[in-house]
Amino acid sequence: MKKRFTVTSALLYANGPLHIGHIAGAYLPADIYVRYLRSAGEDVLWVCGSDEHGAAITLRAKKDGTTPREIVDKYHVEMQGAFKGLDISFDHYSRTSSEKHHKVAQDFFLQLLENDSFEVKTLEQYYDEEADQFLADRYITGTCPSCSKEGAYGDQCEKCGSDLSPTDLINPISTLSGKTPTLKETSHWFLPMDQHEEWLSKWIKEGTFEGEQLHNPKDWRNQVNGQCMSWIDGGLHPRAMTRDLDWGVPVPVEGADGKVLYVWLDAPIGYISATKEWAGKNNKDWKDYWTGDTKLVHFIGKDNIVFHAIIFPILLKEHGGFILPDNVPAYEFLNLEGDKFSTSRNWAVWLHEFMEANPDKKDELKYVLTSIAPESKDAEFTWKEFQSRINNELADILGNFVNRAVVLSNKYFEGKVPKRGELMDVDTDVLAQLKEYPAKIEKLVRAYKLREAQSESMNLARLGNKYLAETEPWKLSKTDMSRVETIMNIALQITANLTIAFQPFLPQKAATIAEFLGMDLLKWDSLGSDTLLTDGHQLNKPSILIAKIEDKFVEEQVAILEASKLANIETV
Ligand code: 2FM
Ligand code: ZN
Repeated sequence: MKKRFTVTSALLYANGPLHIGHIAGAYLPADIYVRYLRSAGEDVLWVCGSDEHGAAITLRAKKDGTTPREIVDKYHVEMQGAFKGLDISFDHYSRTSSEKHHKVAQDFFLQLLENDSFEVKTLEQYYDEEADQFLADRYITGTCPSCSKEGAYGDQCEKCGSDLSPTDLINPISTLSGKTPTLKETSHWFLPMDQHEEWLSKWIKEGTFEGEQLHNPKDWRNQVNGQCMSWIDGGLHPRAMTRDLDWGVPVPVEGADGKVLYVWLDAPIGYISATKEWAGKNNKDWKDYWTGDTKLVHFIGKDNIVFHAIIFPILLKEHGGFILPDNVPAYEFLNLEGDKFSTSRNWAVWLHEFMEANPDKKDELKYVLTSIAPESKDAEFTWKEFQSRINNELADILGNFVNRAVVLSNKYFEGKVPKRGELMDVDTDVLAQLKEYPAKIEKLVRAYKLREAQSESMNLARLGNKYLAETEPWKLSKTDMSRVETIMNIALQITANLTIAFQPFLPQKAATIAEFLGMDLLKWDSLGSDTLLTDGHQLNKPSILIAKIEDKFVEEQVAILEASKLANIETV
């Protein structure tokens, strides 16, 4: 096993509020993975932060009639706050407009220059004479050469999905001035990706690099391997690593005024600068987390696969002195009530709004998002399913079992954990099953199958319910109190185990159950034990663990969404 884990979640563009579709992919799953690793006593660092460069930011600033600086300052704080509200437990949340990051990214670039990793090419690019600037791909629109749709972007047609170059567009128009741009010569540093096909293909297909087995390719998701191989098989092309722009990390070379690093060069380096910042504050050596016996894991959305599994690995290898990612768990997309999430159409469940209205439902939201996580295909969030998952699973299975175990023990034994007497087959059987849970759950978590892992934790609560239903202590309480003592002892030991099994998924609920039991939260290596609570230990009185979701709540949420849809139709 590796000594350390460096876990990253895609740095989010700081250009709008967070919705639950964002959370379901690269953030909540990583939170679960990391909480498990911490509980298992692993040395783990989890970094994330704001991606504050690129057209996503400058376009937003232009739309809002403000500056990129104002946009990133606003949303960096807002997004970090929304993550906090949901109790997402990053070790460090950084930002790419910081001085520290600029320096780290520039040094990285200079090292690549020194290693001769780039080719300088002069080419012609669209230029807006009126705005006096070169145009980034997203600043040019025109007619798509493939499907004739007007308003296609310089890098992609959103109608037919074709990848485009600005010069492919018919009748190009600058979005800055509305005029036809002219072509002008400029020079850029290109990463000759075509020269890296051979080793990349071996690394992705076989998991080997320079003759060493680094990972098992079977551990990578099919979509990730598939997308990478289709890029490589289709032939990689040199890609410009610099841009003519005034917002970004300046190219640290004399004579390169007006040029910045390509956002997809600087953003992943953000993981490294975040590590350096964190290490500085925590008296650690950042290098430990990027070299040697460390497992580097990138949680991302599927639209980021090529950047994390092809481009960033090339950069890391070319720089030298870094490990390559051990896995790149990529998530498909989450849809909402039959439609794609859309910020511009306001078709979203905004995280800050949900948390404001329902501050006590963090874990409920986490539970549902993990239950439907888009691990292998796109998934759908509906308020009806939100209700049924909470009522039929969280409340009826977990809530019901915990409540029965603690309420009955309070009723029969004044809240003192009773002693176990002689065991019957039903008891030894349930204890034997309990012992199998740690291995089952951790195997799934380590394989990034968090949906199934959460469902295994729920199976432990199911096991508890089944045990009580079979042994019926409420009936025996009239005739055989010593048998009831044994049953309730076992039911309470299972309850105590649930605080550990659910800790990564539902940290708040796990803490509440531990409070009912009057116990500390224990680490993963205690899971499976049937002696977590000692005889005579005093329990507390429970309150409601999971409140059921009323039909009215669902109707209100659907109405909010429908109203925003109507408002959009009216403004179109
Ligand atoms: O797609 C995005 O939202 C990008 N901001 C992700 C960047 S991931 C990493 F490279 F920082
Ligand atoms: Zn098209």
